[in-house]
Amino acid sequence: MASLRLRISILAFCTCLVIQCSCYGHSVLQKKHAALLIFGDSLYDPGNNNYINTTTDFQANWFPYGETFFKYPTGRFCDGRLIPDFLAQYAKLPFIPAYLQPGLNNYSNGVNFASGGAGALVESHQGFVTDLKTQISQFRKVEKLLRHKLGDAEAYTVLSKAVYIISIGSNDYISPLASNFSNEEYVGLVIGNLTIWIKEIYKKGGRKFGFSTLPPLNEIPSLRVHKPGDTSPSAEEVIPLVKLHNKALGKLLLKLKRELEGFKYSTIDLHTYLKQIINRPSKYGFSEGKTACCGSGPYGAINSCGGKRGVTKYQLCDNVAEYVFFDSFHPTEKVYRKLSKLWWRHNLKELFEV
Ligand SMILES: *[C@@H]1O[C@H](CO)[C@@H](O)[C@H](O)[C@H]1NC(C)=O
Ligand SMILES: *[C@@H]1O[C@H](CO)[C@@H](O)[C@H](O)[C@H]1NC(C)=O
Ligand SMILES: *[C@@H]1O[C@H](CO)[C@@H](O)[C@H](O)[C@H]1NC(C)=O
Ligand SMILES: *[C@@H]1O[C@H](CO)[C@@H](O)[C@H](O)[C@H]1NC(C)=O
Repeated sequence: MASLRLRISILAFCTCLVIQCSCYGHSVLQKKHAALLIFGDSLYDPGNNNYINTTTDFQANWFPYGETFFKYPTGRFCDGRLIPDFLAQYAKLPFIPAYLQPGLNNYSNGVNFASGGAGALVESHQGFVTDLKTQISQFRKVEKLLRHKLGDAEAYTVLSKAVYIISIGSNDYISPLASNFSNEEYVGLVIGNLTIWIKEIYKKGGRKFGFSTLPPLNEIPSLRVHKPGDTSPSAEEVIPLVKLHNKALGKLLLKLKRELEGFKYSTIDLHTYLKQIINRPSKYGFSEGKTACCGSGPYGAINSCGGKRGVTKYQLCDNVAEYVFFDSFHPTEKVYRKLSKLWWRHNLKELFEV
């Protein structure tokens, strides 16, 4: 009887603390998992902007956003799931919650700090978004809580098992500030600030990172039509910026791998894949690569999806599965699913194998 009780208690001896459950007893050890921590912009934002003081330009919590999968608007800039949602699914985690979601107090599977419209520079959509610097200070709060609960050493271990993914830069390159610098200088600022972010997370224990190249910004519906009076870079002007950024990102990651012991990363070339899908949609199971499913004007370039951003009239396509772009800036869930699958199989999966 005593030995039976002992065996049960060994199997059930789990300590579930802020980021992760540690279970002792071999039948439950496999349950140990890496958490997923997410930073960045609207490509990854699960609804943080629902809870900040901003304008509808930086929100998406109304119909038809969310219509394909969730069946209600969540704040995601998409008809359905985003890349972090698919990655969480593949990693057998639940959807990772928005950091600003009221009442959130359990970070055991990870947390998502991303904010639609955010850039690596605080100037990008300043005052309307949670910039990267602020996202890092939110991460520091989570880290502090973790140390409080687990002690410094254990907190560090938990953070070193987690996977960190980030999508940042697009909003910096469609910002009017870009024209005040040479392309090289400006990319230097963006990459410089991204480096600060990576090093800060590394210092707190982070070792496993996932990055994507920037999308072909000149080929998103919004930039296909020049808007009078717009001081942001034009489609032609963003091409060299994106090219320089993607090259500099690759170089930075190689450099960090040399400099930071134990630094591991996985990348997906979002730029190349998206470009192929946009330009040869039928090869990838789509029929429309250039025009947004939801929006107004030529290419659906006017960012009016849902009619809540000043322009009340908009078109909505009948079959979203045929479209590469859902709104004037963002791909459809179907595109995100394809990209996520590619990334996971490529090598992101290995980062989750603790
Ligand atoms: C929200 O922002 C608007 C415009 O910037 C400002 O007038 C208002 O006071 C802000 N509200 C809160 C609660 O901070
Ligand atoms: C936090 O969530 C995890 C996973 O869903 C769960 O196992 C754990 O019991 C939760 N912890 C607390 C303190 O609620
Ligand atoms: C660019 O520089 C000019 C001159 O210094 C300044 O007036 C302008 O506000 C700057 N533009 C941006 C977007 O910061
Ligand atoms: C980060 O960006 C700011 C502008 O927001 C810039 O002044 C600063 O030099 C950048 N930092 C690095 C290390 O590039």
